[in-house]
Amino acid sequence: MNFSLSEEQLMIQQAARDFAQNELLPGVIERDDAQEFPKEQVSKMGELGFMGMMVNENYGGSGLDTLSYVLVMEELSKIDASSSVIVSVNNSLVCWGLETYGTEEQKEKYLTRLATGEIIGAFCLSEPEAGSDATSQKTTAKDMGDHYVLNGTKNWITNGNSAAVYLVIAQTDVEKGHRGINALIVEKDMEGFEIGPKENKLGIRGSDTHSLIFNDVKVPKENRIGEDGFGFKFAMKTLAGGRIGIAAQALGIAAGAYELALKYSKERKAFGTEIANHQAIAFKLADMHTKIQAARNLVYQAACDKDDGDNYDLSGAMAKLYAAETAMEVTVEAVQIHGGNGFVKDYHVERLMRDAKITQIYEGTSEIQKIVISRSILKD
Ligand code: CAA
Repeated sequence: MNFSLSEEQLMIQQAARDFAQNELLPGVIERDDAQEFPKEQVSKMGELGFMGMMVNENYGGSGLDTLSYVLVMEELSKIDASSSVIVSVNNSLVCWGLETYGTEEQKEKYLTRLATGEIIGAFCLSEPEAGSDATSQKTTAKDMGDHYVLNGTKNWITNGNSAAVYLVIAQTDVEKGHRGINALIVEKDMEGFEIGPKENKLGIRGSDTHSLIFNDVKVPKENRIGEDGFGFKFAMKTLAGGRIGIAAQALGIAAGAYELALKYSKERKAFGTEIANHQAIAFKLADMHTKIQAARNLVYQAACDKDDGDNYDLSGAMAKLYAAETAMEVTVEAVQIHGGNGFVKDYHVERLMRDAKITQIYEGTSEIQKIVISRSILKD
């Protein structure tokens, strides 16, 4: 596999790098502290085409490939993972799901506005008692002929309050198990739809995460995505691509922390020389650099598999697993290299360490990725 980037991909990467430096870096510590949603920044990312990167231009998207998308995710995440998760959920879970499986009417009505960033979307699968065990959906979508009646609670939903459109996974026919699950498009102002309290989180604190409550919400049948009973497969297929986006986020967090640690180690002196000259630090940097490069290869490979039309369930899961574990290890080491300074907010690495943790949890924990990987390699 040749990862040499085209002129266009290099330009997109540079645009994302510039945006992150100029627009995300200012105020990133304050937004994290205050748990403030980056509204203005998201709006600017819409103008730059980052909110619907892979969506066809006919629907207002940028018409780019997955590799360009991961390049952008990596650059944004080096600086501000709260902003990049908003981008990732909108692109990989909401826009991709709608463009791939939605009807023409659904695309015209919703995708065109989501792809430009005019509105943003949320993907609602997790529940208080259905996180990793995603088939155990308790939220119900009762079939009433021309509409469904939705009841239940969703948990830990990214863009929970800031979204206008929600893709909600719910059980219609319990007897049929996962084959009785549907995916419905829910609008924020539908009667009976309530936004629950905002979570007070360890990391990605600038993104808004909420529980959602559905009390007899009437959802028209034309808002169902795919055939009756397609909801679980819709969620699995959508998440398979989402994992590439989160893998790129983890890669960016790791690379951002490494860049800061490298710089610091060449400036900070101890025992009469820059700390990079001490083997204890130099070997840490060597390990960090090697793991990041390995993670990058896996992430780019998964993106290329998707672009080439190959199966990316396995490569996406491997990329997500390895990049997330790398992000956690590298950010912990970056804090260590910074010593006491690493423990205070001004140096950014403590935030990157806190942000890294969620990449081992959302869009499938590291343990779930190992299930996907082991099932894939053992099935033949
Ligand atoms: N593509 C298509 N279909 C798939 C699939 C895939 N990648 N993976 C599974 N399926 C299908 C299976 O073929 C099966 O269908 P059939 O019976 O018709 O063949 C069906 O789905 C059920 O599959 P399993 O029997 O393998 O189901 P399982 O109960 O063993 O669970 C699992 C599989 C992989 C563990 C799944 O439950 C899973 O991915 N869990 C993690 C959920 C997750 O990632 N949650 C993240 C929440 S979203 C989020 O974090 C977003 C955010 O806001 C950031």
